Amino acid sequence: MTETLIRGRLLSFLRAPHHADDRDSYFYEEDGALLLSEGKIAAVGAYADVKARANATTTEIDHRPHLILPGLIDCHVHFPQMQVIASYAGNLLEWLNTYTFPEECRFVETAHAERIAIQFFDEFLRNGTTTAAAYCSVHKASADAFFAESLKRGTLMIGGKVMMDRNAPQGLLDTPELGYDETRAVIEAWHGRGRNHVAITPRFAITSSPEQMAMTQKLAEEFPDLHIQTHLSENREEIEFTSQLYPEATDYTDIYARYGLLRKKALFGHAIHLSDREADAMAESGAVAVHCPTSNLFLGSGLFPLKSIQRREKPVTVAVASDIGGGSSYSMLKTMDEAYKIQQLLGERLNPLESYYHMTRGNAVALDLAERIGTLEEGTDADIVVLDAAATSAMRLRMETVTSLSEELFLLQTLGDDRAVIETYVAGKASKPRAEA
Ligand code: GUN
Ligand code: ZN
Repeated sequence: MTETLIRGRLLSFLRAPHHADDRDSYFYEEDGALLLSEGKIAAVGAYADVKARANATTTEIDHRPHLILPGLIDCHVHFPQMQVIASYAGNLLEWLNTYTFPEECRFVETAHAERIAIQFFDEFLRNGTTTAAAYCSVHKASADAFFAESLKRGTLMIGGKVMMDRNAPQGLLDTPELGYDETRAVIEAWHGRGRNHVAITPRFAITSSPEQMAMTQKLAEEFPDLHIQTHLSENREEIEFTSQLYPEATDYTDIYARYGLLRKKALFGHAIHLSDREADAMAESGAVAVHCPTSNLFLGSGLFPLKSIQRREKPVTVAVASDIGGGSSYSMLKTMDEAYKIQQLLGERLNPLESYYHMTRGNAVALDLAERIGTLEEGTDADIVVLDAAATSAMRLRMETVTSLSEELFLLQTLGDDRAVIETYVAGKASKPRAEA
């Protein structure tokens, strides 16, 4: 049995922090260690204690003075949009029609999907993200390429073949029957294979006819434990168009509710402009609003009320995500930097503990996977990121004046990116790509 012991400063959340100095919300060990064995965290604690449990052949890696955290989690990303990122569009619908839909048409070519899948995993692991909830394209082969690459890397990934049957180019449309059949085929081929999870993935109400939504409901009923992912209430024109397409629904959220898609493990990208009724419906169902800050700013979609939506009498579960390629950074550090700025504009404070909670345990809880990922607890999967808050000269200089863990985390979030990621462990194996491809 090959074992690895990694030594460094451990940080892992126990629950959501209630305030900026909530010391009880996290576990921190200044001279800590993790023993990684067979893809799992076999021991965690003070270095001396963990060392005593290692055997003679254990490989020891000293990451001091760096921080060791659970691998970062990204709850909404589009795998076929790596060559859409940084496209100059005025708003969501223009961006989709001008850049995104034409680009996704290219995934009809298996070789293209396979090439981008390699790039995707390289980029995510370079940024310390070990789990993502990803949309593939409408083409089944894109999901096959995504999951095959995930299997090779040993990652815990959630992915889905997008279902869309209208309001997009012909090359990007399935039909209600084809969407159903191919989603079933993807589930059969990949769900539970390695660490892969398949998500039921209707793109959004604009691109799914009522007939397709009904087939999506059938899938949701047949596979009650699967994740569901779609988009909700991102942009004012999108909301207006959607309400014309589904005039019988009370509001945008009600469309998904009518088709049985509002439930636990259902991930609704954006959910920026919700009414109180919609937020109540989300909260009551246990559905998740996935905040995508860099995307919301880049596309000018709006300011998501991250703090106030969780403070409601009926709080909505929130996750955070990059939303590549509407989003403009692969880094979850940069993502939370922008999340912080959005709260500033709303007159709210997002403290550093909350940010790091969201990127790790918070997202794992939202995905209903906190038993496996998002923490450094014994027995969980050994997906880990090692971070250096003094990775660049600007960060090093600022670190000279840092006096607390919170300040360090905030600096890391504000100035950090993939350069701050020293190593990414996937199921106990060092996996950060070394060279820029
Ligand atoms: N709504 C429907 N599809 C998309 C997409 O690909 N990106 C974003 N940001 N919003 C969407
Ligand atoms: Zn999206």
